[in-house]
Amino acid sequence: MTMTQQDAAAEAVPASADGEGHLAEHDATVREAHRRAIGDVMLEVDNITLRFGGVKAITDVSFNIREHEIFAIIGPNGAGKTSMLNVINGFYHPQDGTITYKGNVRQRMRPYEVAMGGIARTFQNVALFRGMSTLDNMMAGRLTKMHGAAERAFDKSLADIPVVNFLTYPFFWTADFLMDAFYWGPYQKEEERHRRRVEEIIEFLEIVDIRRTPVGRLPYGLQKRVELGRALAMDPQLLLLDEPMAGMNVEEKEDMSRFIIDVNEEFGTTMALIEHDMGVVMDISDRVVVLNYGRKLGEGTPDVVQKNQDVIDAYLGVSHDRPG
Ligand SMILES: Nc1ncnc2c1ncn2[C@@H]1O[C@H](COP(=O)(O)OP(=O)(O)OP(=O)(O)O)[C@@H](O)[C@H]1O
Ligand SMILES: [Mg+2]
Repeated sequence: MTMTQQDAAAEAVPASADGEGHLAEHDATVREAHRRAIGDVMLEVDNITLRFGGVKAITDVSFNIREHEIFAIIGPNGAGKTSMLNVINGFYHPQDGTITYKGNVRQRMRPYEVAMGGIARTFQNVALFRGMSTLDNMMAGRLTKMHGAAERAFDKSLADIPVVNFLTYPFFWTADFLMDAFYWGPYQKEEERHRRRVEEIIEFLEIVDIRRTPVGRLPYGLQKRVELGRALAMDPQLLLLDEPMAGMNVEEKEDMSRFIIDVNEEFGTTMALIEHDMGVVMDISDRVVVLNYGRKLGEGTPDVVQKNQDVIDAYLGVSHDRPG
C-alpha cells in the first residue's frame, strides 16, 4: 500500500502549527503543499544481527524505509544506531539478516558499490578533507558520479581510490594524508557538467561565500553543512545522516533542519537520520524507529512513538542533549 501525501502530512507533522514551535513555517499545510508523496518501500532491513566478538551491537532488528520519507533512528548511546548505518552502507557485514535496497537483496556489498547504487552518508564526527576548499570537498563527493574520468585520472579502479573510500567510511584514513594524494588536474575541466551540479548545490545550501575557504577554517556548523553538500554531490537516492546536528547551537540546528526538509522536498531524497534532539526528530521525521541495547524498542509516527511507554521509560523520559 502506498501512503498518500495527505496521510503522510497528517501523520507526520507534530503540533507546531500554532506558529510557536520552531520550524513553524514547515507546518502541516506548508509541508503538504510541497512534499512529494511517500512511495513504496525503498530499503528493507530484515532481522539484522551484528556482533563484535561478545558484543551484540544489533539483535534481530527489522524495519523499512519508504521512498521520500524522512526516517529517524533514535535511542540511547550505544544502542546500535551508527552500527545500523554501517550495515546499510556496507561497511559492516551482519552475521544474520539481509538488506534489500530497491528490490535487490544483499548480504555483502562493498561500501563503494553501495555508494554507486545511490546511498550517500555523513558521519557522527565531521569527516571532511580539512585543507581543501568547500568546492573541492564537494567535487570529491562527485567522484562516484564521474567514475570513468576518476579512474583514468587516478589510474585505479574506483574501489581502490582512497578518497572514494573516505566518502563511505573515514576510519582508516586521515584526511590530511589524502589531501596530498588528491589532484584534480586537467580532468576537472573535462567534467564541467559535474562542476555545474556542485555549484548548484553550493547555492542551494547557501554556502557561496565560503566556496573557496579551506573547510578546516570554518565554524563547526558550516562544516556539517559542507559535509551534507558533499553527500548531496553524489546525487543520492537514500541519504544517511549520522547526527547531523550534534554539537550545534539552536540557530545552527534550525538551519540544518530546514536544509534537511528542503533537500527532501526539492530533490525528493529519502533520508535515514540519527539524532538525539527529540524536538528536531519529532518535528521533521515521518516515522521513527527506536533502538535500545541493539534491539528494536518501538516504531511508528512521531506521535505514536512519543506515547510508547517502553520508549518513554528507556529513552524519552530523560534528557539527551549532549554538550557539543
Ligand atoms: N567496530 C566496533 N568494534 C567493537 N564494538 C563496536 C564497534 N562498533 C560499535 N561497537 C559497539 O556496538 C555498540 C553500538 O554502538 P553504536 O556506535 O552503533 O551506538 P550508537 O547508538 O551509535 O551510540 P551513540 O549515540 O553514542 O553514537 C556499542 O556497544 C559499541 O561499543
Ligand atoms: Mg552513533
